[in-house]
Amino acid sequence: MRADQAAEAGGSTLRFLTCGSVDDGKSTLIGRLLHESGAVAEDQMERLTRDSARFGTNGAAPDFALLVDGLEDERSQGITIDVAYRYFATARRRFIVADTPGHAQYTRNMATGAAAAELAVLLVDARAGLLAQTRRHAFIAALMGIRHVVLAVNKMDLVAFDAARFEAIVAAFADAARALGFADVTAIPLVARDGDNLARPSGRMAWYRGPTLLGHLETVDVAPGGGADFRLPVQWVNRADAEFRGYAGTIAAGSVRPGDLLTVARSGLAARVARIVTHGGDLPAAAQGVAVTLTLDAPLDVARGDVLAAGRPVPISDRFEADLIWLAEAKLFQGRDYLVKLGTATLPGSVTRIHHRIDIDSFEQVPADTLGLNDLASVTVALGVPAALERFADSRDLGGFVLIDRMSNATVAVGMVREVAALAGGVVWQRQSVDRAARAALKGQHPAALWFTGLSGAGKSTIANIVEQQLHALGHHTVMLDGDNVRHGLNRDLGFSEADRVENIRRAAEVARLMVEAGLIVLVSFISPYRSDRAAARARFEAGDFIEGFVDTDVEECRRRDPKGLYKRADAGELRNFTGVSAPYEAPDAPELWLRTETGTAETLAGEVVAFLRAHGVVPGAPGGR
Ligand code: ADX
Repeated sequence: MRADQAAEAGGSTLRFLTCGSVDDGKSTLIGRLLHESGAVAEDQMERLTRDSARFGTNGAAPDFALLVDGLEDERSQGITIDVAYRYFATARRRFIVADTPGHAQYTRNMATGAAAAELAVLLVDARAGLLAQTRRHAFIAALMGIRHVVLAVNKMDLVAFDAARFEAIVAAFADAARALGFADVTAIPLVARDGDNLARPSGRMAWYRGPTLLGHLETVDVAPGGGADFRLPVQWVNRADAEFRGYAGTIAAGSVRPGDLLTVARSGLAARVARIVTHGGDLPAAAQGVAVTLTLDAPLDVARGDVLAAGRPVPISDRFEADLIWLAEAKLFQGRDYLVKLGTATLPGSVTRIHHRIDIDSFEQVPADTLGLNDLASVTVALGVPAALERFADSRDLGGFVLIDRMSNATVAVGMVREVAALAGGVVWQRQSVDRAARAALKGQHPAALWFTGLSGAGKSTIANIVEQQLHALGHHTVMLDGDNVRHGLNRDLGFSEADRVENIRRAAEVARLMVEAGLIVLVSFISPYRSDRAAARARFEAGDFIEGFVDTDVEECRRRDPKGLYKRADAGELRNFTGVSAPYEAPDAPELWLRTETGTAETLAGEVVAFLRAHGVVPGAPGGR
């Protein structure tokens, strides 16, 4: 059967992942599988035969790896560089293969490919035996919730089809994988190039009595244990018209029928299912994996990111323990803000603690302050608001999450919830009768944070100081937070490493927020060199209450002024991590106020700031202000 006929194939779909090191023969194996299942058209076969003569490594015979390593530059390098999905089918099952590259730096791709897979084929070269790579792949597969593994021991011809060699590798793997909790591991000796034990049992390894690879993939049972409680993460609320209100999403676990009592995870309110609406008409019942729209018999407050559930309640928390894989070149620092995508919800959150890194070779725990590309770690994550979440072991949908960088929108980590912490017991938001509006009213002003960023010596404090004098003269209640000063007290434990600056800005933003709550106009002047930390600071305020002023002074000009003699020391190598010299400054793209010090004096720039505050109603004075 051809892959394009897959839709007509009977049976289920198996999503699997292949991983192996560069020389394990992974592409050959996949190419062969495609060929054996008839997924390779005749013209493709002809081209393959032609190409094999040119690039192949298999003499006159077709080199099936070329079928898979489609890109020219990959061919000539002989490596695979990205996750590729391939589809094929046999009479018994459809298959989606995620092909992920083997070399160490591509853990990220493997994690991506593993995210939806039910089974992993781990390729091992019979000559080389188990490599650190194989252990890494097994570990990530387990971490990503894959419970079924095939250990494909390839190139058995090169070890003279030696059963003892095969058994030794199988035993070594069993040892390494013991702690990983796979439901089953099936080891198969192969010669992928020649097709031994691929689709047909090999006559050259009569000692092996197990299934062929394709036979195993066709029949392996990967269904999750049944009887799970119903979970519908709400993707969106469908208000087709005034009457209709439906909750749409894909059922993550369990099944549902009209009449079932469902609870909204966050509010705890319950109602019964009225209808199960789909494109094809109403259903009498629906189960895991089906996209549905449910209507309820009572109007409840349900939003995207909520979960409709039956049975065991869904835990609600704003803190959890997790395992994660860091996928970005930029390092992870404790306390830095990210967006956490969890189920259908997207929330602000951060890694508040790295408990330890996991050494992939020894599986040992190593102390760590930061994480780099491909690092695995055990961490605590705190969310800005409580969310419905489950242990990954209980639900891949509600227990798997990714971290997204606010600025670049890139996925910087994938993670799995290991343990949900109780919703910060005792630490609850106190309801306050005298609130920010009341305090602000008493002061007759609109509280806001004016956040000045720029290089050391740019003139932040000087401008902020004049602005404060003017506001004060106008009868406003203000307070000034200055990096140098705050570092003498609250932040005296912090230095100038990136990690420390993240924390420095986090605390400054928290204090500024408290003071805005107190009804004050807060002037903050911190270098705050990282965009993401300023974005996180901004996210703590209501729209309009955070005003970013970029005090833009060329580094050469700062160096010339050098009011504290710090540039001189930095240039002499006496000060490490000095912003603009040996540490980065990421200028804002779109600050509310762009204060170019070469075009004005501190007085005129301060005047611009006050004019802005007038125009935006922070202080009265302009028609149309608030
Ligand atoms: S921030 O980068 O974390 O926002 P912050 O504004 O608190 O910095 O403190 C900056 C001040 O610390 C500078 O104005 C300077 O006086 C002093 N300083 C000392 N060492 C450094 C350094 N390595 N980099 C930048 N500023 C430094």
